[in-house]
Amino acid sequence: MKLTSKAAYQEAWAEALNSPEAFWDKVAKEYSWHKPWDKVCSGDFNSLDIKWFEGASLNITENCLDRHLETRGDKTAIIWEANDPNEKEICLTYKELHADVCRFSNVLKDQGVQKGDRVVFYMSMVPELLTGVLACARIGAIHSVVFGGFSAQALAGRVNDCEAKIVVTCDEAFRGGKTIALKAITDEALESCPGVEKVLVRERTGAKVTYKEGRDHKLMELLKDASTTCEPTEMNAEDPLFILYTSGSTGTPKGLMHTTAGYMVWAGFTFENVFQMEENDTYWCSADIGWITGHSYITYGPLLKGATTLMFEGVPTYPAADRFWDVIDKYKVTHFYTAPTAIRALMACDIELVRKHDLSSLKVLGSVGEPINEEAWEWYHKEVGKERCPIVDTWWQTETGGIMISSLAGVTESVPAHATLPMPGIQPLLVDAEGKEVSGSPAEGNLCIEKPWPGIARTIWGNHDRYKETYFTTYPGRYFTGDGAKRDSESRYRITGRVDDVINVSGHRIGTAEVEDAINEHENIIESAVVGFPHEIKGQGIYAYVICQDSSKIEGENIQKELNAHITKMIGPIAKADCVQVVSGLPKTRSGKIMRRILRKIAAKDTGDLGDISTLLNPEVVDEIKKGAGL
Ligand code: WTA
Repeated sequence: MKLTSKAAYQEAWAEALNSPEAFWDKVAKEYSWHKPWDKVCSGDFNSLDIKWFEGASLNITENCLDRHLETRGDKTAIIWEANDPNEKEICLTYKELHADVCRFSNVLKDQGVQKGDRVVFYMSMVPELLTGVLACARIGAIHSVVFGGFSAQALAGRVNDCEAKIVVTCDEAFRGGKTIALKAITDEALESCPGVEKVLVRERTGAKVTYKEGRDHKLMELLKDASTTCEPTEMNAEDPLFILYTSGSTGTPKGLMHTTAGYMVWAGFTFENVFQMEENDTYWCSADIGWITGHSYITYGPLLKGATTLMFEGVPTYPAADRFWDVIDKYKVTHFYTAPTAIRALMACDIELVRKHDLSSLKVLGSVGEPINEEAWEWYHKEVGKERCPIVDTWWQTETGGIMISSLAGVTESVPAHATLPMPGIQPLLVDAEGKEVSGSPAEGNLCIEKPWPGIARTIWGNHDRYKETYFTTYPGRYFTGDGAKRDSESRYRITGRVDDVINVSGHRIGTAEVEDAINEHENIIESAVVGFPHEIKGQGIYAYVICQDSSKIEGENIQKELNAHITKMIGPIAKADCVQVVSGLPKTRSGKIMRRILRKIAAKDTGDLGDISTLLNPEVVDEIKKGAGL
């Protein structure tokens, strides 16, 4: 259902609110199903047994691939652009992609993978990551992609949590001018993963890596000999499709589980309406498939809608800081979707790097992953979109499966730094700290969602209580997003950022507790508190306050290096601290809780009022910390 006017959007939003069953029934009928549903939706945020399209059966890859073969068989489905601009691209038509996915499906089956088994992918952005994910979906296995920047320990934690039987990796990854030793990291991780029976290795750099007899196999050799036909496995609507780990306020990363039919309908519907593509357009989302954006808007969304989607192995700054613009020019990209961090980084480079490329093919620009500041928005609009292209600022989360609040390109208006309007089916509301709804406009508060939508994650893998506790207990009966937001006088939303203990560094979600755990591993650290602070390029940076066992052993620079080595080992380089301050104590309430509000203000070099500190157990420490921070 493509909404092509503002009136159509408003009508759809009202219909999805007033008659959700009739509305989603219509949307879902655009797909092919083995068996239709008995009931469109059931369950709520109290019972938390949410179901969509119950009773139906389908296979999502039939909708991504087979359904297009007759009408779009020879249309390009995937364009793959290598890290090195001199390496030839790979283009796969829908027919070819279908054949490759079938091949991969047969390889997985030969390796003993069965419906319901978990398969972990720890790869770079090679075509086999995308075909592998779809192959899992074709045979009913559950994929869990782990971003290639995570450490061995982080990988092992995820592999064990979802009890994966098989891991697919590369010998090494190319990443700009560097390589990442994915297979060596996998080997290290698997020393503590007794459940893994097989490892498939996609050779990419040709580096010499070790193969463990019986366990490890060369993926490309297996694929070469595999059959290009594979019947799709019939799946129930609520069968799991994938697990994706993400960080939260507390504890270890959570494995959000998405199911088949609702996710499919949501990914397809949001992709079609937010981006408003036409048949011959070329779409490029620069995310990595290791994150939810790469699941919903490189893989499933575009393929469900028969689009041509570009997959990029490299980074924006290699071989030079005009790589994005070069790729847009080379393939005449019409729809470009990236993160504010990338925009801010490229904005800081010589403007000629943008201006020397022909970007006239562009029609729509997108932003995702973190709040986009007005300056970055204006630059993107002017220098990249030449003031012709609407910008869709898409707010959503791993948990939501797809875009929740965004303008629809060229259909509803774009407003700088505002995600603007909710998708049909989404009822946002703002609540105050006490959980009372803040009604009227303008308003500000914590962002909640009122009713289940098709794409919501159904549980945290293996821990339904944690799912309930994390999202539905702060404001009972409502989904709490963890974000703060403002609503303007025309009811358009602006997301202001996380209000919990999650830091958003370059669009990557990092839990403060995870970083603290890593820091506390250091033998000289007694306690630590980690907070985010505003960072010009990354959006937020990581600031760590640490109490040392023996401060005489500390030399300023060294402690940061040593702690970052610990963080890199336990989580990965993406969680490294930008700033480490040694303190003698942390501001705590009488009940022993760290008052992070104070630490956040000091980290932000905010010299204003720190608010009431009289309830602190140790108010004297505040002055010392301020002084140490140079305030
Ligand atoms: C943030 C990424 C402002 C937000 C799709 C959210 C945004 C978290 C936006 C989810 C946006 C995402 N404007 N903030 N357009 N998009 N966020 O799970 O804080 O990696 O809660 O999903 O990113 O990050 P996640």
